[in-house]
Amino acid sequence: MQLPPFELERYFARYEFSARYLLSSSDCEPLTLKALLGMADNQHRQLWDELTLGYTESQGHPLLREAITGLYRNLDVEDTLVVTPEEGILIGMQALLKPGDHVVCTFPGYQSLYEIPRAIGCRVSLWEPSESDGWQFHLDHLETLLQPDTRLVVVNFPHNPTGALPSVETFDALIGLLRQRGIFLFCDEMYRGLEIEPGATLPAACESYERAITLGGLSKTYGLPGLRIGWLATRDRDLITRTAQLKDYTTICASAPSEILAIMALDNQKAIIAGQRERLHANLMVLETFMTTHDDCFHCQRPKGGSICFPGLRRAEGAQAFCRKLVEKAGIMLLPSAPFQYGDQHVRIGFGRQNLPEVLDRFEDYLSTIDR
Ligand SMILES: Cc1ncc(COP(=O)(O)O)c(C=O)c1O
Repeated sequence: MQLPPFELERYFARYEFSARYLLSSSDCEPLTLKALLGMADNQHRQLWDELTLGYTESQGHPLLREAITGLYRNLDVEDTLVVTPEEGILIGMQALLKPGDHVVCTFPGYQSLYEIPRAIGCRVSLWEPSESDGWQFHLDHLETLLQPDTRLVVVNFPHNPTGALPSVETFDALIGLLRQRGIFLFCDEMYRGLEIEPGATLPAACESYERAITLGGLSKTYGLPGLRIGWLATRDRDLITRTAQLKDYTTICASAPSEILAIMALDNQKAIIAGQRERLHANLMVLETFMTTHDDCFHCQRPKGGSICFPGLRRAEGAQAFCRKLVEKAGIMLLPSAPFQYGDQHVRIGFGRQNLPEVLDRFEDYLSTIDR
């Protein structure tokens, strides 16, 4: 399998640990180890203190799989596999697809979601949203992309980078459409739980559709990307067995300390997610004020979910040149749309971090120094 460079990851590798201010991170504020350990009950604290640093069970720690199963209706522990999130995309696609299959994928998006199917040798059609009506993905557009032999539809809701999120009714209709035609659904739910409006959380694909596989994880919603813990969940037993077999060729098993910390995180999921949502909501208000003040520079559709949005840029120089000068002169890392292979007129802003108001102040200082 020949994979091209992952452009977003290469861009982050260049600036993430050298730029003074990050304004494009997609993860929420990371928790400290101390904070997470402080939330643990005695039983989990004992698991941590007495942990042996050996190999772990390939499918995942039984208590972790039990906690993951508890997130969904109608699921059994055997329907889950612990993975690193990015690994879940790789082995999920490898388990589902063969050369020549037809796949439809939401676009722009996280590159591996469509690049891995392409590298497997699939024909990939891109399902694009409409920016002018709030980055909505329209089902009638999807219907025009489906072919008689479409094997898989890949979606990511809440969506990176636009913050798009369909209504529960539209999501149900999407599943109805796929069920009618026997098409599998790969649903990247890495930002689930970060919906802006209460009640907008979609049912998980794995609980709604027997041919769906959910990718979930702790990186974004929980602010724990350093654990590298995610999971695949599906009621299709053959599919989960095939992904488990493929995992023997990638990581074999998860990191032992990460699994115990993940058990603690899921045990405290309500408190962790509530804290992240509170920060996101406060930050979104600050960001919206900033966008209104600088509407000569940006036009922005309000995200419906997730920790990121994708404003358009009103500057003749284009997003790449704008972002390069911003990081060089003000130390602020902003992600242009080019790594998403989506033209040069948008930027991705992450608003899940604690220091967002401070970074926007620095950004404002910078904007006051440049020509309009
Ligand atoms: C939509 C989406 N899926 C999957 C991932 C991969 O998560 P991780 O970096 O934790 O492997 C990301 C990370 O940015 C993402 O945005």
